Amino acid sequence: MSCFEHFAEILRTNAPLAPLTWYQLGGPARYYAEPRDESELAALLRCARDSGVAWRILGRGANLLVRDEGFDGLVVRLCGPCFEEVEYDGQRVQVGAGRDFTRLVRESLDLGLTGLEALAGIPGTVGGIIRMNAGGRYGEIASFVERMSLIDAQGELVERDAAGIGFSYRHTCLDGCAILGARLLLQQADATHAKARYREIWNEKYSNQPPVSARTCGCIFKNPPGHSAGVLIDRAGLKGHRVGGAVISAKHANFIVAEADARARDVLDLIALAKDRVWNQTGFELQLEVEVW
Ligand code: EPU
Repeated sequence: MSCFEHFAEILRTNAPLAPLTWYQLGGPARYYAEPRDESELAALLRCARDSGVAWRILGRGANLLVRDEGFDGLVVRLCGPCFEEVEYDGQRVQVGAGRDFTRLVRESLDLGLTGLEALAGIPGTVGGIIRMNAGGRYGEIASFVERMSLIDAQGELVERDAAGIGFSYRHTCLDGCAILGARLLLQQADATHAKARYREIWNEKYSNQPPVSARTCGCIFKNPPGHSAGVLIDRAGLKGHRVGGAVISAKHANFIVAEADARARDVLDLIALAKDRVWNQTGFELQLEVEVW
């Protein structure tokens, strides 16, 4: 008997992932589960590890491309009250990994806590935003994280302070860990200015990038040190270039937009093409920012 049988109430097999991602592309997960609390999550991950089954945590699916074959492992989504709790204490916020990040930004501003407006317009769950140290021109989440709780790669429930997270540009050392929640330190200030800044950053972002309604995964590549992936792909003449139903955005060349008939394969082919062209023309080796499952 497989240990997965103990999770019949929360586990589905061959579960479609496309509807759970912004790209709306890709095949199913062999197993999919929404655990109800931390101990159930820990038990599930232990079962996966003991069975040699790979696992991933799915946030809002905003920075993710699932291959057409799907994911041959366990996909877990942290939703429901246990994973979405938020508690304010002065300038500190204790927040669950499953909380919607945009919601957190807005509610913290409403409470007169500022700082997160610098990350306006970045979609994701708190866990996903921290996992990839999401950010943009005006800041990154690393600046606000004081402490985190997580299930580490050995399956232990542990606390880590910011130094133990290994934040760098769009990167953390949290491979094999499941983030449960984080304590953020914000500033207490008159939020009027911060709210105006929030709207400004949001507007700037969406005048330079495809609209939120477009099927994308945000930026495809990381910026090489001191350079811009968008500029390099643009200069390679690839804006508007299409493979099947996937197109390099004419607005911002570091975005690939999926159209009605796109497959994940089309996006992957465009990624390979952009990487090749930029390498051949400039010698920059672009690194993926998007996660591919
Ligand atoms: N540019 C071009 N052609 C293009 C795209 C950009 O010439 O096709 C130029 C722009 O005109 C600008 C420069 O390149 O002068 C930089 O572009 P932008 O301001 O859009 O910033 P970026 O470096 O391309 C970064 C983040 C974005 C974030 C924006 C704004 C990365 C990989 N990207 O983009 O984050 O929204 O700054 O804060 O760090 C994401 O992480 O998914 C993402 C979209």
